[in-house]
Amino acid sequence: MKDRSAMAGSQPPLLYPPYRSTTRWAPSKPLIRLPETLSELDAPVYGWWPLGEADNDLTRQSSDEPQGQRIIVAGRVLDEAARPVASALIELWQANAAGRYCHAKDDHPAPLDPHFAGAGRTITDAEGRYEFITIKPGAYPWRNHDNAWRPAHIHFSLFGSSFRTRLVTQMYFPDDPLFDYDPILQSVHDERARRRPP
Ligand SMILES: [Fe+2]
Repeated sequence: MKDRSAMAGSQPPLLYPPYRSTTRWAPSKPLIRLPETLSELDAPVYGWWPLGEADNDLTRQSSDEPQGQRIIVAGRVLDEAARPVASALIELWQANAAGRYCHAKDDHPAPLDPHFAGAGRTITDAEGRYEFITIKPGAYPWRNHDNAWRPAHIHFSLFGSSFRTRLVTQMYFPDDPLFDYDPILQSVHDERARRRPP
């Protein structure tokens, strides 16, 4: 594991009051380190069922193409020592081109796209590579503060070799004018970390 002081500012704090939800979620007591046992390290990773042919192509999951700018999201999963992480399950979810999630709890009055579910998954190859085909999501309003809008973004969940190695994160798109007003992005204090490619 990397020296935590070297990572200072590259990870968001658990409590960041401008991101209002953290005032409810952040632990109020010191964290307790639990010893790792073999069962935690070799327990099955959630979500290991066969991948479908279009699971990583969100433009081919319906009878017609979704609206929006088609994009390819690709990269490699590496560990702290820059070694490739093979067979990592990557799940992705996002809003459609109008900024609306296909989810019962999204009441943003932007149109749903009948040809876009906004969810996909894939598994990294031996070199840690992954690739998704999707559309660029739209920005959407949220209730964090007055006139709050999230920059366009895509959410990711990554599982490494075990359930305990899950990472949940999100990616943005370069030069979005909403960056300065987004407390989730701004909670990462190190500007180089905010600009790091996915
Ligand atoms: Fe989102």
